[in-house]
Amino acid sequence: MIAAVLGLQFGDEGKGKITDFLSDRFEVAVRFNGGGNAGHTVVTDGRTFKFHLVPSGSLRCETVVLGNGMVIDPFALKDEIQKLRESGGNAEIKISKMAHVVTPMHKELDKKEEEIRSKLSIGTTAQGIGPTYEDKYARTGIRMVDLLSKTILDEKVETIYRMKESLLKDTKFSQQTERQALSSALLEVGKYVKQFLDYTENIIYEKYSNGKNILFEGAQGTMLDIDFGMYPFVTSSNALSGALSTGAGFSFRKVDFVLGVVKAYTSKVGAGPFPSEIEGKEADRLRDLGHEYGTTTGRPRRVGWLDLPLLKYATRMNDVDALAITKIDTLGKMDKIKVCTGYRKNGKSIDYIPRNLEEVDGIDLELREFEPWGEPDYDKVVKNGFNGLPEKMKEYIEFIVDYLKIPVDIVSLGETRNMTIVRESSELKSNGK
Ligand code: GDP
Ligand code: IMO
Ligand code: MG
Repeated sequence: MIAAVLGLQFGDEGKGKITDFLSDRFEVAVRFNGGGNAGHTVVTDGRTFKFHLVPSGSLRCETVVLGNGMVIDPFALKDEIQKLRESGGNAEIKISKMAHVVTPMHKELDKKEEEIRSKLSIGTTAQGIGPTYEDKYARTGIRMVDLLSKTILDEKVETIYRMKESLLKDTKFSQQTERQALSSALLEVGKYVKQFLDYTENIIYEKYSNGKNILFEGAQGTMLDIDFGMYPFVTSSNALSGALSTGAGFSFRKVDFVLGVVKAYTSKVGAGPFPSEIEGKEADRLRDLGHEYGTTTGRPRRVGWLDLPLLKYATRMNDVDALAITKIDTLGKMDKIKVCTGYRKNGKSIDYIPRNLEEVDGIDLELREFEPWGEPDYDKVVKNGFNGLPEKMKEYIEFIVDYLKIPVDIVSLGETRNMTIVRESSELKSNGK
């Protein structure tokens, strides 16, 4: 099976957990977008792993790929690979020669750009993501393969500095010795990274031709997509399923199954419109119940109710076959539960997601209330699968299925791998290998 796992909201839906859960069905896992802005938490039996650059399939897949669409901080990468190896993860790692390199200079630029944006500052993860993609599209970017050549590194570090001098002139990179030191450090880390570099689009195709099962794991979420998200409060890459074609060099037409990951409520880190956001005590309670603090930045996440119009749009844009619902255990502990079922503007229903910032601000929500389901009886769930779920939780799930006309194939009831159930008739039920 060739499958893709994607976030359908504002990121942090639990993609890492779901990818890890499914990873015993796949030989290969591939990242195709974003970089160290992603933070994917995987909890196995008593051990917690936090992946930023390395795919969340790394614990159980034979081969993992960091595709050309990614932006990679090679120093952070080295640390992450070493941690993975220390904890026994021995997947073969392949990194695209064409992926772009995030340097400390890009992280500096990320901070400077945020200052200049002022009221429109995004609340980025400060991981240098935007500036690195800027360089990629300006055709001045440093690629992973460039880490092997001092001449190219010197040339590119200087070019980037000249292009961005107005932003960097009061940082240490204004000194040529610092730029030279950067270039040397990149060359040095390149000596380590070299062993993993390859033309990964060819490797993926070869695996496909040999009948291997491949899982493409998206980072971020639909509403953070540079084109279709809540621009400008988005990341700098595409986060939709189609992005795997350009971000990994593999045709989307060959993907058999798209799994959309949805948190049972909504969360968002950073600024920008969030139509179903809640505030005050109710929000504090949901944030605490769900430990909603960023994996990458530790920032408190904004929280809100499940937004079905937004999800309807996301399922269409990603061509989703089935949903995985996460953190439904968390939501069930609230005193009351609401779901957004529609948007209204000046008293009239609207059937699109406004992306004009002034328009989003003025919308009203149609909300429907559900009764909480409390803590599930886990023994019953393990024994009976979907049928063992609390009745009120089933009502919530059925309402979502009915609204979106998409089946829920996976329900996640806790952070650990084994707190996950799969619908009996799902294609994901059988081990595809
Ligand atoms: P990702 O970026 O989509 O991979 O999500 P994150 O890892 O950033 O955030 C999701 C958080 O929720 C992590 O701390 C997970 O361990 C946790 N989590 C995932 N699924 C569940 C679930 O079903 N229930 C609970 N309680 N926690 C979950
Ligand atoms: P995962 O893969 C949640 C958000 C940032 C900020 C905006 C731009 O863990 O779901 P960037 O650093 O990309 O320039 O920041 O995007 N953001 C995420 N929010 N989860 C993520 O990834 C995110 N990656 C970026 O908070 O609002
Ligand atoms: Mg995350």
